[in-house]
Amino acid sequence: MGYREIVKVGDPILKKKSRKVEVFDEKLARLIEDMKETMYHFEGVGLAAVQIGVLRRVVVMDCGDGFLELVNPQIISAEGEQEAQEGCLSLPGEYGVTKRPAVVKVQAQDRTGKWHIYKGTELKARCFCHELDHLEGIIFTQKVIRKE
Ligand code: NI
Repeated sequence: MGYREIVKVGDPILKKKSRKVEVFDEKLARLIEDMKETMYHFEGVGLAAVQIGVLRRVVVMDCGDGFLELVNPQIISAEGEQEAQEGCLSLPGEYGVTKRPAVVKVQAQDRTGKWHIYKGTELKARCFCHELDHLEGIIFTQKVIRKE
């Protein structure tokens, strides 16, 4: 299908909670492929399904170390603290500093339903938190502690 338009702030769907993926079929694979194309097209490091208007618990990411697909992701551990600037494809031109854990471990399924564990520090830890927040209807601006 190709890349999709990104839902922008002000659209109420961004505040909704995404639903768990129960069926690992061709439709899920297509959704992930479309999200992947959309993320790379708009040069993001992460994208949640809700950002293309789909309320499913699916995230794609690439923090410069390869493509990741996260289905039904959960944070299983978070340690330390970091403060850094964040942005979001749904809020073009808006940036702010948030406080996030320094090290985050995430458990997630892939498109076939297989479980994996991923670890992230620095940008990747922030990205895990930012994208998983999208699945709860939370936008990073709700967590901004200061503008830089
Ligand atoms: Ni975002």
